[in-house]
Amino acid sequence: MSTLGSNNPFLGAAAKQITEASVATLALLTTTVLLGITYAASKLLAEQKVDGKLPPHIPSTIPFLGQAISFGQDPVQFLLAAYDKYGPVFSFTMVGKTFTYLIGSDASALFFNSRNENLNAELVYGRLTTPVFGKGVAYDCPNSVFLEQKKMFKTGLNIARFRQHIPMIQEETLTYFKRWGESGQQNIFQALSELIILTASSCLHGKEIRSMMDESVAKYYWDLDGGFSSMAWLLPGWLPLPSFRRRDEAHKKLKQQFYTAIQKRRTSGDVEDDMLQTLLDSTYKTGRHLTDDEIAGMLIGLLLAGQHTSSTTSAWMLFFLAKNKDIQDQCYEEQLNVFGKDGAVDYDGVKQCELLDRCMKESLRLRPPIFTMMRLAMNPQKVLGYTIPPGHQVCVSPPTNMRLPQVWEQNLVYDPDRFLDTTGAVSEEKFSYVPFGAGRHRCIGESFAYVQVKTIMSTLLQLYEFHLVDGRFPNIDKTTMIQTPENPIIGYTRRQPPTH
Ligand code: HEM
Repeated sequence: MSTLGSNNPFLGAAAKQITEASVATLALLTTTVLLGITYAASKLLAEQKVDGKLPPHIPSTIPFLGQAISFGQDPVQFLLAAYDKYGPVFSFTMVGKTFTYLIGSDASALFFNSRNENLNAELVYGRLTTPVFGKGVAYDCPNSVFLEQKKMFKTGLNIARFRQHIPMIQEETLTYFKRWGESGQQNIFQALSELIILTASSCLHGKEIRSMMDESVAKYYWDLDGGFSSMAWLLPGWLPLPSFRRRDEAHKKLKQQFYTAIQKRRTSGDVEDDMLQTLLDSTYKTGRHLTDDEIAGMLIGLLLAGQHTSSTTSAWMLFFLAKNKDIQDQCYEEQLNVFGKDGAVDYDGVKQCELLDRCMKESLRLRPPIFTMMRLAMNPQKVLGYTIPPGHQVCVSPPTNMRLPQVWEQNLVYDPDRFLDTTGAVSEEKFSYVPFGAGRHRCIGESFAYVQVKTIMSTLLQLYEFHLVDGRFPNIDKTTMIQTPENPIIGYTRRQPPTH
């Protein structure tokens, strides 16, 4: 298993975790049986006749595993090379499943414009998310219900609330980074992950739940988060793996805490201006209020959906700024111009930090946290002259679309000013820039993510000057399910207060 797993984003982490010795044999047996069945089923599906031309299939001499190893070594490079050779739609086999990638804006339009009945999300994501968020929310309910839940979130994520969030985020950041002292080298990704759990809980959960956040509660979040693993995607949830047990235990414990907080709010009669209140007041189209269980599940989902995505985005952004010292200096100038000497960050100022905005946008172009969006084809899907058969995992890869040399000038260069739109280095095609997805599954957290990341970045740029340690820019860690930096150590020196 470990040789299969090396460097593969789906299998790499699985290979590490499967060393959980006491149950490894059982897990391996089950994996073999499960993957064998999937393989046989997918062969049967593949052999079903569909009208029309199938997408070109990248051949492999390795049965069952197929392209897993080549893909895992460098997924974006693999997809770009396949695009050059086969065009914008192609299929290949990995661990017995057939993946069909849609590369570039025109092909991706099928994915983003399609209805959930045709390209289904919950059959792909549900096995990962349901044990973490719980029943009746997100991918454990019909998509029409999830869309109503997303609407409730959107109501709660409004500008008036962002105005309140920003000072809280800045305060949490200042408090957290006191431990860093004057200068040194630290793991920035770990720091930002720990910080963002606190800021997101302050902003998205409300004071009752944030006040419960101590180290033991933070540990439950990490255990829950451990549920988003390739193991959980590949193996049945009932297997007695320690990481599955920790995830399930953490789910129960956190839910209990959330029920207490919800009850406290309900019985106090207090009406607060926060997300918990929005969810307590919301009703479905039928007029039904959310149950406590749904509210708790949605709050967990909200926190975790924004946790890794925002912490990786901020970490990569700091590495890009550390590498491009001139841009970092300009960002610091912008901080001084907008927030002055006292540096207190507010909503209007965050909006005015346009260079910082472009830096975040460009960081998301080159290092979007979500590497692949996936759906299951429920029926034959026609795209650019091909017919994708039911049973294929249909995928769009944001980093590939956002790096296509045919549509992005100087595609590998970190150039925030490309978004000034005067240089011609930005693609005009509709689905070429998709770090937050598009269509019915589009992210509802984009505005909050910008507010949160820009507030944290503003605070950090005011505090420190960042540099790469020994000039080393991190590689992408290919064993994690999202694009995190490998060995994310950054160097920093405290800035002197401005004299002018
Ligand atoms: C930099 C930060 C973020 C990035 C790059 C990001 C990226 C994405 C992407 C690519 C999708 C589409 C997934 C798909 O189509 O399969 C998505 C969906 C979603 N995101 Fe985000 N996200 C971020 C932050 C957040 C935050 C902060 C929240 C919550 C406060 C959030 C909540 C959601 C939700 C609820 C969905 C909907 C999923 C669906 O309808 O299937 N995200 N996000």
